[in-house]
Amino acid sequence: MPYAQIDADLTAMNTLGLPARAKCLLRVRSIREAQQAYAFLASHPEGFGLSLILGGGSNLVLRGESLNTVLKVEIPGWRRLDGTEGTSVLVEAGAGENWHGFVRWTLTQGWPGLENLSLIPGTVGAAPVQNIGAYGLEVAERIESLDALDLTSGKLKRFDPAACQFGYRDSIFKRQPGRWLIMAVRFRLPRRWQPITHYGDLAHELAKRGFSDSSPLQISDTVIALRRRKLPDPAELGNAGSFFKNPIIEAGQCAALLIAHPALPHHPQPDGREKLAAGWLIEQCGWKGRRLGSVGCHAQHALILVNHGGAAGKDILQLAASIQDDVFRRFGVKLEPEPVFI
Ligand code: EPU
Repeated sequence: MPYAQIDADLTAMNTLGLPARAKCLLRVRSIREAQQAYAFLASHPEGFGLSLILGGGSNLVLRGESLNTVLKVEIPGWRRLDGTEGTSVLVEAGAGENWHGFVRWTLTQGWPGLENLSLIPGTVGAAPVQNIGAYGLEVAERIESLDALDLTSGKLKRFDPAACQFGYRDSIFKRQPGRWLIMAVRFRLPRRWQPITHYGDLAHELAKRGFSDSSPLQISDTVIALRRRKLPDPAELGNAGSFFKNPIIEAGQCAALLIAHPALPHHPQPDGREKLAAGWLIEQCGWKGRRLGSVGCHAQHALILVNHGGAAGKDILQLAASIQDDVFRRFGVKLEPEPVFI
């Protein structure tokens, strides 16, 4: 049976450090325990419906302070699935494993491919939910398949990448919250490895370090250094990484904005639209480093909203709404939050 805790404190289980309690917290460590958790939920004990599937809690805003049942995925393990031959390496990891620990394990085994995604907080199971991405790579590009338990039927389903419906910080799992309990994820890592070093900040930092022909571990170490420099450590300052997605707008609107704001960072997309830098838009509105009571915008990176201590979900929501209003008033661009709101 899953380990069950009644009236559990979730404050330390979400990286924003927002206070909340769950009537029942179920820690799931295997497929069997996931099925038992499903049976518990399916029997619908009064007031114990599912509120949330929790991984590392690093992409989560808890609006309210009182939740019903929370499933915390703690399925461990990682292993190689194929033989030593072939043009790629197939590895599987349990959904509960720490993402960065898994990435470093693959690299030390001599299996590159995930180095650009080093030091992203959270678990292996949460990585596909929001299709984590950084420094020119999205995890969708490396996923072979994943297994998830359908909490509406109790059936286990294998998803190939097309079935995951990946998008920019998006997937079917994010669009159907509470339905899919991801158990294990399989990654296909290329043997003929090509470094991905075109992302401006990364290219610049690699050059500065004199890494012209970078190894996977050098890229990982450089990404770690960049993230440590720019992004606050949730253990020291509560945050959920980028709070908004970088908005994608029509080319015509971008051209008009460039007349008024020639320095506007913009990146053409394959469909002809343009992706803007939400951090830049927020900074232009004067929010960088600004506080609103117990919450604020990080001083080094305007896209990170932080809990300076003692904040509740409503404080973060209020700050996010003020930023969205200002950016819309000034640029006519709607900012969409990246984390899941519960
Ligand atoms: N910028 C500003 N002011 C700021 C912050 C950024 O002007 O306060 C400008 C930068 O100068 C740069 C541009 O915005 O021109 C982009 O900034 P950065 O390279 O820091 O990346 P980002 O677009 O803000 C995205 C991801 C991050 C990921 C980095 C690196 C999103 C929403 N965020 O951030 O992902 O680590 O690129 O690849 O796509 C996350 O999703 O939680 C996350 C941290």
